[in-house]
Amino acid sequence: MTCVDVDQRKIENLNKGILPIYEPGLDAMVEHNARDGRLAFTSSLPEAMRSSDVYFIAVGTPPGEDGSADLQYVLAVAREIGAHLERYALVVDKSTVPVGTAEQVRAAIDSELERRGVHVEFDVVSNPEFLKEGAAIHDFMKPDRIVVGAESDRAIDLMRELYADFTRSHDRLLVMGVRDAEMTKYVANAMLATKISFMNEVANLCDRMGVDVENVRTGIGSDSRIGYSFIYPGCGYGGSCFPKDVKALIRMAGNHDFVPSVLEAVEARNEQQKGYLFEKIRAHYGPDLSGRRFALWGLAFKPGTDDMREAASKVLLRQLIDAGASVRAYDPIAMDVARDELPAEWFGDGRLTLVDHQYDALRDADALALVTEWKPFRHPDFDAMRRLMRPDPAIFDGRNQYQPENMQSDGFVYYGVGR
Ligand code: UGA
Repeated sequence: MTCVDVDQRKIENLNKGILPIYEPGLDAMVEHNARDGRLAFTSSLPEAMRSSDVYFIAVGTPPGEDGSADLQYVLAVAREIGAHLERYALVVDKSTVPVGTAEQVRAAIDSELERRGVHVEFDVVSNPEFLKEGAAIHDFMKPDRIVVGAESDRAIDLMRELYADFTRSHDRLLVMGVRDAEMTKYVANAMLATKISFMNEVANLCDRMGVDVENVRTGIGSDSRIGYSFIYPGCGYGGSCFPKDVKALIRMAGNHDFVPSVLEAVEARNEQQKGYLFEKIRAHYGPDLSGRRFALWGLAFKPGTDDMREAASKVLLRQLIDAGASVRAYDPIAMDVARDELPAEWFGDGRLTLVDHQYDALRDADALALVTEWKPFRHPDFDAMRRLMRPDPAIFDGRNQYQPENMQSDGFVYYGVGR
């Protein structure tokens, strides 16, 4: 397999074994496959095309200003494929792309072939990816299903051959229309986002009704029709997928003059939920936080990754800093990303300090805000924490990691989400 990127530096680093992202287990996997000659990196697409029969397009589809997926990178790759195609190839859309994109990819390749005055056969297939960051290798190797949207037998046979090793125990490969496969990707993410937003709404209600949402969560999750996954309330979903894909699906609906009221509510609830911890903080301390010091645990959008895209931590940091507070923040993996991504002016006058240890963040703090449920945060030494913090310490637990009933005896004022 040959991987292509236009970013020369990225390729040079990959050739030296330096990965552009943090993903558990990926460095070892890349290293041994590269060493054994199964994996190569280049910035030349024509070079990669010469030695391949299947071309995966896996470039970014960032949200445009109106929320729709920006297809410029996907279509640029398609045009380049068209400019160099010499023999039959299977072009696979792996990027998350709106319904109808495969048709645009086909048209882009066709127009290049026409410009060159050559006729070469090719198929365009949709093969969306369902892996989660932080569990990418496991999810890819042991997929629940492999969705293939394809129109020709030749393309379907090739995809079956390609994924044969993944479907030996039972056939996990679902073949459907190209548009159906494109839609499946968005609906899977939107359904998961809906579960989360629904539970966040329930948590808000529980807060007002003297109910512990954690008991409600286990109470409903035990019904196998509902299930335990993706019903954890918290301070909103982040990452590069759910926020972007929900917005893009809303946009697609709009293009067909349809108002997707459920999806709009999912999105609106999530925006509000990212401000949830701050609402609790403001209710506790009042609107002016000057002189207050906060510890923040967890900057990544979820545990297991250094990705901070659409992370709830960024919303809370802005709210705290705007209200005059100072913050000492810690994350087990995302510190370098935080240094690059967070506004430089926050670091200048001590409003935000990134510290090297989770307990360092607590020094002289009025309160702790827990935003990402990394393992080291789950069972901390509460005595040590109390000794480091100012008198009357508070914990704002954005991921319901601690038991409210123990918190008072440990000497903390405790706020969870919906309990
Ligand atoms: C998500 C999907 O889970 C993958 O199946 C999909 O392939 C991927 O998007 C994608 O489209 O590429 P990912 O964004 O890596 O994966 O992360 P998730 O584990 O789904 O978490 C997303 C967000 O939801 C996180 O901020 C997490 O904290 C939040 N979440 C998750 C909750 O607030 N509650 C839950 O119960 C579960």
